Amino acid sequence: MCRKCYVTTPIYYASGTPQLGNSYSTVACDVFARFNRLMNRDTFYLTGMDEHGQKIEEVAAKAKMEPQAFVDKIACGTKGVWKDLNISYDYFIRTTDDNHVKAVQMIFEKLLANGDIYLGSYTGNYCVSCETFFTKSQLAEGDTCPDCGKPTKLVSEESYFLNLKKYSDRLLKFIDENPKFIIPETRKNEVVSFIESGLEDLCVSRTTFKWGVPVLSNPKHVVYVWIDALANYITALGYGSDDDSNYKKYWLENNNIYHVIGKDILRFHAIYWPILLMALDIPVNYQLVVHGWILNRDGKMSKSRGNAVYPEDLYSRYGSDSVRYYLAKEMPLGNDGLFSYDRFMERYNTDLANDLGNLVSRTVSMIEKYFDGVIPGNYKNTEFDKSLEDCAKRAIEETIKEFDKFELQNAMNATWELINRANKYVDETAPWTLAKDPASKDLLASVMYHLAESIRVAAHLVAPYLVETSPKILEQLGINECLSIENLKFGANLGGIKVSKGEALFKRLDIKAELKFYEEKQKAALEALKKKEEPKKELITIDDFAKVELKVGEILESKRHENAEKLLVSKIKIGDEVRQIVSGIAKHYDPQTLIGRKVIVVTNLLPVKIRGVESNGMVLCAADGEKLELIEIKEVNSGCIVR
Ligand code: ME8
Repeated sequence: MCRKCYVTTPIYYASGTPQLGNSYSTVACDVFARFNRLMNRDTFYLTGMDEHGQKIEEVAAKAKMEPQAFVDKIACGTKGVWKDLNISYDYFIRTTDDNHVKAVQMIFEKLLANGDIYLGSYTGNYCVSCETFFTKSQLAEGDTCPDCGKPTKLVSEESYFLNLKKYSDRLLKFIDENPKFIIPETRKNEVVSFIESGLEDLCVSRTTFKWGVPVLSNPKHVVYVWIDALANYITALGYGSDDDSNYKKYWLENNNIYHVIGKDILRFHAIYWPILLMALDIPVNYQLVVHGWILNRDGKMSKSRGNAVYPEDLYSRYGSDSVRYYLAKEMPLGNDGLFSYDRFMERYNTDLANDLGNLVSRTVSMIEKYFDGVIPGNYKNTEFDKSLEDCAKRAIEETIKEFDKFELQNAMNATWELINRANKYVDETAPWTLAKDPASKDLLASVMYHLAESIRVAAHLVAPYLVETSPKILEQLGINECLSIENLKFGANLGGIKVSKGEALFKRLDIKAELKFYEEKQKAALEALKKKEEPKKELITIDDFAKVELKVGEILESKRHENAEKLLVSKIKIGDEVRQIVSGIAKHYDPQTLIGRKVIVVTNLLPVKIRGVESNGMVLCAADGEKLELIEIKEVNSGCIVR
């Protein structure tokens, strides 16, 4: 029987289109799915969207949209991003799909009927953002969420519960007997100690909002969003529907099921999901692949901090292969990875434009120059040839071995051993010198053949991530073959094939200029964010404005406040009177430089004491973020009205 592979991403919260960070699992799974297809395995790749829950209901309300219309819009945008990134999913599930909703209702009723779900009442702190309940002892300072730091809400309501306690020993035994259930190992240890510390039964329904799957037998409850979401891994295969052939094929009769997830959602997949399956009497036969986060230099990317990067920011300028390459290469399994524009561009220039792009371009150019564009047959085998050939064979073996362990970075490194070796081989054999001596024609032919053949092999090995580039490489070599394991052997007969030089596979980037482009873009994004944050003031009438008395004042004296380093205390002449005014401008102006300047003063403010010093009025300034500038008057005398 042909080997099968079922690989899934987490289904994304439909609260916005995916950022670079949460595109990681999708790209990584796509690379893995394409690798499995290359190996001729019957592969099913599932991704989709998690569209229910209080968080989505609230975000939709903020956008003044019905939740369904809102998630439709997000699903459309997300599918567009996946298309641009060449994500080859076999099915895109949405938890608002009819068949999913029906299956979730059926699952809930089944668990109610067998007593694994029971009705009770819940009082606890709920984080809307993470859709998670926390016990008092789990909460962070000020009753905030221990995961995201946002305030939690104290909720008390009638709820259904899933009996986790009943399954905790069975789950521990299962994890012990299946050491590969969670990779990497460190994550497994985390889960085991969490279970050992004692599981509380899980609250699995809500009554305080509507946007969810209604419980069939008690519709004032909606199913807890995580139960709804986790079920997608089987409902997408048709579990609980009229056609469950995919469920039988890819779940029941398959030992290669991979749920790829980020470290933040480990507990749901390593505890709740297997217990749900046990309660439903469905085999727990998947492997959890737990990856880290893609971080910025200043921590996690987020829209609200203005440092979010979107895949489109990159692929619209450099093509989707470079984004796929960067993401897949960046994270050793289990660790966090870093994204920065300069690092991205370094990788692009070094690995893609130099190592790979140049190798292809100079090989094709040399075949054109020395052999009229026709790849010569395999002539002599020199020692250099043998070492390149061995390297190619090793690269094939290692790349496959590492991909099979979901060690994407290692697999890519193994392929790059061949690409680097081929570049070194060019330097060692110096074809341009061989070309000058007619007696070396056979040697030169052998060099060209070995280069072309190594590149052909590399084109197959990079195909899972360089989806667009790989066929272009074969095209430049004039090779017309499908990407498949059958062709992934060193020693193809390439003699007589005509090459044709194409455009550079990756044009070198001017990193300085590119960085400037992003710097300006980020600045604009921050500014837009700031503008959005500045609350719009209510409109006022001219009579409201007339209540404020503004006059020109001349600064006679100014000195630093004794108890506050940000404040200056000034004596200001306004017509015949002199007032003392305290202003927060000490960081921006040296008091001595203020004497003699004419400024605008609000003269009908109630006097106040600021850090023990009386202030009788206010001096007007213009502010631009951290920058502050006094508004000055040139000609008009002190005491004159400003209007
Ligand atoms: O968790 N780097 O959805 P989600 C790498 N709906 N991965 C990241 C990341 C980053 N900076 N930020 C997020 C959900 N992720 C649920 C899943 S599955 C039944 C339900 C990962 O949109 C995160 O770890 O918040 C998760 O694996 C995925 O992106 C989707 O996150």
